[in-house]
Amino acid sequence: MPSTPTSAGGGDLRGLLRSTRQRTLELTAAVNDEDLERQIDTIMSPLVWDMAHIAAYEDLWLVHRGAGQPLLRPDLAALYDAFETPRAVRGEIAQLNAAEARDYLAEVRERSLDVAAQQTIDSEITEMVLRHELQHRETICQTLALAQLPSFDPGFRETTPAAPGEHSGLEFARIESNEFTLGASGDDFAYDNEMPRRQVGVGQFELGRTAVTNASWLEFVAEGGYRERQWWSDDGWAWATTEAIEAPLYWDLRDREQPVELTSCGPRALDPNRPVAHISFHEAEAFARARDARLPTEVEWEAAAQWQGGAPTERDAANVGQVCFDTSPVGAYTEGAADCGALDLIGNLWEWTASEFDGYPGFSAHPYPEYSQVFFRKGYRVLRGGSWATDGRVASPTFRNWDLPQRRQIFSGVRLARDLAQ
Ligand code: AVJ
Ligand code: FE
Repeated sequence: MPSTPTSAGGGDLRGLLRSTRQRTLELTAAVNDEDLERQIDTIMSPLVWDMAHIAAYEDLWLVHRGAGQPLLRPDLAALYDAFETPRAVRGEIAQLNAAEARDYLAEVRERSLDVAAQQTIDSEITEMVLRHELQHRETICQTLALAQLPSFDPGFRETTPAAPGEHSGLEFARIESNEFTLGASGDDFAYDNEMPRRQVGVGQFELGRTAVTNASWLEFVAEGGYRERQWWSDDGWAWATTEAIEAPLYWDLRDREQPVELTSCGPRALDPNRPVAHISFHEAEAFARARDARLPTEVEWEAAAQWQGGAPTERDAANVGQVCFDTSPVGAYTEGAADCGALDLIGNLWEWTASEFDGYPGFSAHPYPEYSQVFFRKGYRVLRGGSWATDGRVASPTFRNWDLPQRRQIFSGVRLARDLAQ
């Protein structure tokens, strides 16, 4: 079983930076410049902003802070700072066009390679810069799905593995009450919000063997689950009624006999064996209540995410790395099963948890509070496990993602949990 990747640094630094960038350029080259430059949705950046932001972040952390050199473009620092220029305004302000953003990426990269050739770059900072680009590649995929470009084809797509077709998301694995180590040690690269690690106890509970499938969700729609007040929280009901939510974001049910699901690579038949995708926390919670279940806490999720031989973060054992450009049928990666028997904990879709995003006890911001601390206790919910659009380097069992409970453009799904009599 492949093990979790550790930090970049040393000899493979250049290669990693190069292969990561190559995919970023391939992905954005599959989109014409006009589409890169427009704001496809106000909750997202123009793709060209993501591109230049990747360059600005690399220049800031590797070249400027890492090696003490002046910024290549100090005039762009505020424009490409995520806080000084929030998403809502990124569509309206003057910024680099696609050709200029590609040049900026290339020039910054030349500077970082020069710096790396001259001195030892802190491997933690390099790894952070690498993962930043990888995370923005997932953001780019979210925008591409919203865009529904008629002919988008990333050019390097692998087919998803065949469906075993035996799961619904309503079968459960049992996790015995136990104590385990939550979070990352920090020996390998980890984000500040994964630390400090600590011993925690969980009572026995049940966790879905797989994520909830489209077939199971179709039943929920057919039985009127979206109109059944009792399944929804107050916030969830207010959101669903105001926004007139009736189905997951990319479902097209106009032909009831042949439901369709939109993907970034175009529409396809809604596959009953794939996990329901692009649902909000509110929808996940309502579905769970309707099935006499609940969402797992993130501690429970991590208690279940244990592998004797290391977590499956490589392509043969999990749907990660932006190669399928789609979900795979649930339970297809049997090799990646966790010790408790749960499948697809890593990859395929992010899984909503019941937990609000907050720092672990003893948290200290590193290397900058804007990565996570500023999002603590603001109503963001934790998602775990990674999606098909997440790189295997990012999707670790301790990695914590977060988003607002109404968000659905993210590659989100749901895995149920259930109490067991103690
Ligand atoms: C961890 C995915 C929530 O996209 O807002 C990118 C990652 N941080 N640039 C985000 C991130 C800075 C972050 N998430
Ligand atoms: Fe960023």
